Amino acid sequence: TRQIAVPTAPMGWASWNSFAAKIDYSVIKGQVDAFVAAGLPAAGYQYVNIDEGWWQGTRDSAGNITVDESEWPGGMSAIADYIHSKGLKAGIYTDAGKDGCGYYYPTGRPAAPGSGSEGHYDQDMLQFSQWGFDFVKVDWCGGDAEGLDAATAYTAISAAVTKATAATGRPLTLSICNWGYQNTWNWAPGLAPMYRTSTDIIYYGNSPSMTNLLSNFDQGLHPLAQHTGSYNDPDMLMVGMSGFTAAQNRTHMNLWAVSGAPLLAGNDLTTMTTETANILKNPEVIAVDQDARGLQGVKVAEDTTGLQVYGKVLSGTGKRAVVLLNRTSAAANITVRWSDLGLTGASATVRDLWSRSDVGSYSTGYTQSVPAGGSVMLTVTGGTEASGSTYTGTSSFSGV
Ligand code: GLA
Repeated sequence: TRQIAVPTAPMGWASWNSFAAKIDYSVIKGQVDAFVAAGLPAAGYQYVNIDEGWWQGTRDSAGNITVDESEWPGGMSAIADYIHSKGLKAGIYTDAGKDGCGYYYPTGRPAAPGSGSEGHYDQDMLQFSQWGFDFVKVDWCGGDAEGLDAATAYTAISAAVTKATAATGRPLTLSICNWGYQNTWNWAPGLAPMYRTSTDIIYYGNSPSMTNLLSNFDQGLHPLAQHTGSYNDPDMLMVGMSGFTAAQNRTHMNLWAVSGAPLLAGNDLTTMTTETANILKNPEVIAVDQDARGLQGVKVAEDTTGLQVYGKVLSGTGKRAVVLLNRTSAAANITVRWSDLGLTGASATVRDLWSRSDVGSYSTGYTQSVPAGGSVMLTVTGGTEASGSTYTGTSSFSGV
C-alpha cells in the first residue's frame, strides 16, 4: 500500500549535517529548544530527526536494540517525549543492512557490527514506534556492502513500517536513503513519502559547497516520479552552515522549493542568525515547496548554457513558480517566456518571492539580471493555460 500519510514533503531539522555522529540527549534537546525559539514550527517545520550516532550496534538476547543510557538518559523514548512536549514530531535512523554507515565509514564514533536493522525490520520498526518516533530514515551502507536488492529490502522495510503503525496507532513515516542507487525513483514512490535521489550533500566535517548544492539538485530531478505523497529527496539543507552567504542560502531554498523537496534544515539552530532563520522561514518560498499539487519543477529553458529557467506548476489555474538560475561566472539577463511555462495569451503578474512584492504585469515573458552563481525566485500568476496541455516543460535529465 502506498504511504500517503504525508501529503506534502516533510519539513524539519536533522542532526547529520552539523553534528555527524556526535549526538546525545543534550545536543538534541538544545536543538529542539532553539527550533522552537526561532519560530520554525509556525513556518511549517515539524520534525526533529536524530540521524546516525544514537546506536552503536548492541542488542540484548531477544534481539532488541540496547541504548547507551549514559548518553540517552531514560532511553530513546525520553528524547521522543521531549520532542513531543514541544508539539513537534520525532525522527530516528537505522540502516537496511546488517551493519550501518558508522561501521563502514566511522565518522567520530565507530559502530560495532550489527548496527543495522537487517534481520530485525519488523522488530526495529515496532520498537521505534513504541518509543514514540514518528519518522524513520533507513540508510543503505550495509545494504550496499552486502549487495542487497534495494527495492526488495525497502519493500520489506515499508511493510514493517506499516505494521508498526497499525500496532501502535502512531503513524511512522519512512525516509528511504539509498542515494539514488538502483534508480530509487523507479521503485520507491510507492514505498515511502520521501526517497533520496542523490549522494551526500555534506560528508562529515566538510563545509557547504555550491558544487554539491547544484549536483544534488540535478540528481534530484525526476519529475515523472514525483507527485503528492512521494517526494524526490536531494538531501538535507546546508542553509545557514558556515561558508554559505545569504545569497547562497536563498538559492538553496529556491532550488529545493521548485523541486518540491523535503526541507530538513541541517544547521546548528543554537547559533543560527536571524537572517538565516528568516531565509528558512520565507512563507512564500515554503508555499511553493509545499504546494498541494505536489509536482516537481522542471527545466523549461536554457537558451545559453548555464542560464537556466525552471518552472513548477502550482495548484489552481495559470499559476507557476519560476527559478532563474545563473550557473555561469558573470551576471546575466535571464528571460522566462510564458509559452515555456505552458501559459499563453494573457498578461500575468510577476512576484519576487524574496522582496515579497509584485514586480509588474507582463504579456509574454519577463527578463531579470541574475548575479553570477545566483538565482531569483518568482511566481507568475494569472496566465492562461495553453490549450491542449497543462504544461509544456520537459526534463533534460536522465531517468524520469
Ligand atoms: C549516509 C547518509 C547520510 C547520513 C550518513 C550517516 O551517508 O546518506 O545522510 O545519514 O550516512 O553516516
